[in-house]
Amino acid sequence: MHIFVLTGAGISAESGLGTFRDAGTGLWARFDPMKLATPEAFQQRPAEVQAFYNWRRQNLLAALPNPAHLALARFGDALHRRGGRLTLVTQNIDDLHQRAGSSDVLHMHGELLKARCLACHAIATCREDLSQHSRCAACGRVGALRPHVVWFGETPLFLDLVAEWLPTADLFVAIGTSGAVYPAAGFVATARRHGVPTCEINLEPADNASLFDQALYGPASDCVPAWCEKILATLDASRPDQRNLS
Ligand code: APR
Repeated sequence: MHIFVLTGAGISAESGLGTFRDAGTGLWARFDPMKLATPEAFQQRPAEVQAFYNWRRQNLLAALPNPAHLALARFGDALHRRGGRLTLVTQNIDDLHQRAGSSDVLHMHGELLKARCLACHAIATCREDLSQHSRCAACGRVGALRPHVVWFGETPLFLDLVAEWLPTADLFVAIGTSGAVYPAAGFVATARRHGVPTCEINLEPADNASLFDQALYGPASDCVPAWCEKILATLDASRPDQRNLS
C-alpha cells in the first residue's frame, strides 16, 4: 500500500511554530509576506529578510516534534515493514519530521536549516544567523548566502516526483494545510483525477475541503496518531482492496 501524505504548518502548530493564516495569530497576520518572502524583497532589503528568517530559525531550534510528527514517523516505518510505502511531502521549512524520525522527507518549499549560495549554488546546513557577512564554505564568497526556502513567485521543489508518485498512490492525505497555496493545494484534485481516495486531517475544513472523500477534524497531535492506528489496524485485519481504503 502506497500512502502519499502532504503536510502543512498545522502539523507543527502544537510544536509552537504557529501557522501562516490562522486568524490573528498567523505569521502573515503579523508580517507582510510580500515584504519578507519574495526574491524582490530580498534584493531590496536583504538585512530585513535575513533577520526574519534568523528569528524563525532560532524559534525552530528551540522547538520539538509533537505527537503528530512522531506518529507519522512510526507509521512510515510500520508501513514499510508491511511492504508498503509512505511518501511524505511537506510545505513546511522546519525539520520536525526528520527530528521525529521520518526519512526521505520532500521539502517542496525548502528548508530553514539550509542556506544556498547565490554565487556557486551550493546548499549547506545552516543553524546560525545569516547576514551579508556570511561566507559560503564551498566557494568562499562573502555575502552571497540566502535561506534555502522557496519564496512567493519561485518554483517549489520536487514537483517532478509529486507528478510521478501521487497518481499511483492508494491514498492521498493532507494534514494541517489550509489549501490556500498552489501547487500544493491542487494535489487533492490531481489525486481525484487519478481515482486516488483522499482524506483531510485538519483543525477545521480547509479551503479545498469539499474535494476530500474523508475528513478528520481536530488538533493534529490527537488526530494523526489515531488515524495512523486506524490505518494499520485495517491493514492488519484484512487485505483490503488497496484502492478503496481511506
Ligand atoms: N492541528 C491541525 N491543524 C491545524 C492546527 C493543529 N493544531 N492548527 C492549525 N491548523 C490548520 C489550520 O486550520 C489551517 O487549515 O493548519 C492550517 C494552516 O494553514 P496555513 O497557515 O495556511 O499553512 P499552510 O497551509 O501550510 O500554508 C501553505 O503558504 O505562506 C505559504 O510557504 C507558506 O508553506 C506555506 C504555504
